[in-house]
Amino acid sequence: MSIIYLDEIPDVKTYHELRTAVEWCVFCKEQSEKALKNSFFCVVAKDGDQTVAMGRAVGDGMYYTIVDVMVKPQYQGQKIGSTIINRLVELINVGIPEGGRTSIQLIAALGKEGFYVKQGFKVLPNENSGPALRKVIYT
Ligand SMILES: CC(C)(COP(=O)(O)OP(=O)(O)OC[C@H]1O[C@@H](n2cnc3c(N)ncnc32)[C@H](O)[C@@H]1OP(=O)(O)O)[C@@H](O)C(=O)NCCC(=O)NCCS
Repeated sequence: MSIIYLDEIPDVKTYHELRTAVEWCVFCKEQSEKALKNSFFCVVAKDGDQTVAMGRAVGDGMYYTIVDVMVKPQYQGQKIGSTIINRLVELINVGIPEGGRTSIQLIAALGKEGFYVKQGFKVLPNENSGPALRKVIYT
């Protein structure tokens, strides 16, 4: 099996297929389309013409949030997720000016924090920061 990685945004159907494959809820088409379009960076992994994984970053050049990191179950445990994270971090790094500073935030799914720690992320709270907070709004 040969996996290729592309810096591209998947279409909504593919995005929804990935979310369903990892048993996440699916956002409505309108919201999904807008969100995907607003990605700052997006990386997909393909096996032939099938998209088997993705991850994306939203942000403003100083702060980024990594979201939608999903590897189809039958492709997990093959370094695809970590390759996607490393590519997103690399893309973010390239844009940082000399003397600049950028931070990358994310909320790990339950039990997945160890995966991100292996990619160099630090669990909060730590010696410099309090815990992460989140408000989810339903309409
Ligand atoms: C979490 C997920 C993205 C990991 O992707 P993956 O391709 O299976 O992971 P990789 O093969 O790249 O793993 C890289 C390393 O992280 C480790 N790792 C993977 N999942 C882990 C977990 N839940 N806890 C601790 N370590 C983990 C691997 O053992 C591997 O370690 P190694 O480098 O020492 O061999 C994938 O399992 C997935 O899509 N899960 C469902 C959706 C999800 O929860 N996404 C995360 C959202 S925050």
